[in-house]
Amino acid sequence: LDDLIDEGVEGRPVLVRSDLNVPLDDAGEITDDGRIRASVHTISELSGAGAQVIIVAHLGRPKGGPDPALSLAPAASRLGELLGAPVRLISQKHWDAGRGDLGMAAGDVVMLENIRFDPRETSKNDDDRAALADELVALTGDDGAFVSDGFGVVHRKQASVYDVAQDLPAYAGGLVLSEVGVLRALTEAPKRPYVVVLGGSKVSDKLAVIEALLPKVDALLVGGGMCFTFLAAQGYGVGDSLLEREQIGSCRTLLESGKIVLPTDVVVADDFSAEANTRTVAADAIPDGWKGLDIGPESVAAFAEVLSGAATVFWNGPMGVFELAPFAEGTRGVAQAIVDSSAFSVVGGGDSAAAVRALGLPEDGFSHISTGGGASLEYLEGKTLPGIAVLEQ
Ligand code: 3PG
Repeated sequence: LDDLIDEGVEGRPVLVRSDLNVPLDDAGEITDDGRIRASVHTISELSGAGAQVIIVAHLGRPKGGPDPALSLAPAASRLGELLGAPVRLISQKHWDAGRGDLGMAAGDVVMLENIRFDPRETSKNDDDRAALADELVALTGDDGAFVSDGFGVVHRKQASVYDVAQDLPAYAGGLVLSEVGVLRALTEAPKRPYVVVLGGSKVSDKLAVIEALLPKVDALLVGGGMCFTFLAAQGYGVGDSLLEREQIGSCRTLLESGKIVLPTDVVVADDFSAEANTRTVAADAIPDGWKGLDIGPESVAAFAEVLSGAATVFWNGPMGVFELAPFAEGTRGVAQAIVDSSAFSVVGGGDSAAAVRALGLPEDGFSHISTGGGASLEYLEGKTLPGIAVLEQ
């Protein structure tokens, strides 16, 4: 980003790929604007230096065309508030027709409507994606540039993330640089003890990252829906808890590392609702017909004990269904233990970052809150992230 600004951007059209994929409630209101706030820095630097900033972003996963429920309008308006200047949202109909002329002045910021409304964005067909990339590039005229700043989406080989970067002078934005800097430090030389906390619902989504992390960490604490497949791998009955039977064997193998710490008690409920009857039971005594929806207080204390001695912590995934008050204490307790520790602590995006804010924990209690969910996990897994690889090229 600094290189581009040093080159001079006054009056130049600059495409900025941001990740503004924020959660919305039923009324279409943004429930967590963390990703928008994290995107402001790069955008305001460019606009302040006189660039004509054209933001490209997605929201959700629209199926086969425009879907008003997935309009970026709320994101454009929130970004405008944060920047202190309105951000005009341009629908594809208009940007397509107005190639090369979006009527912008130096310092203006506009946003293209949800780029995934165009199915070519996510197409597996290289030519389709290239055609959309060409249209985006055409918006920048002869002296355009591309800034990749949507860290949360760099693991996707998509037109506005990957293909555009091949067709324009491409730069890493401030957010991508800071995210990669932190995750690289975790991968290359974490201070020990290095403790990873993983939660979330599906163990199948996390097996690869667990495998990659186990040789590097001193302890891996597991909570959330995924812990029940591990508990089953230990031979425990898990009642009606979330269980991925076909993963029990893999979990059993991972447990042989001796580094995985599982909950010893869980909060169970007779229904998936805030009004359900609940009980706290030992992890090996989950009654039939009940489902585990949070880790229990004894487990929180045990996890907190491990975290208090850690020098580096990476946390991804809630410990329970924190959106429902009776099942929020596990996530709150573990998050608080991370805040209380003096470790270098990284929250790995997605639901855990949202949980930090929803539970009212201090954001500055963590060293870094990543905007990437899948992206940060894939980075730690050691996978090539197309949106980063193309910048390195
Ligand atoms: C995310 O929410 O992790 C990113 O915005 C990427 O979204 P996707 O998983 O729909 O590609």
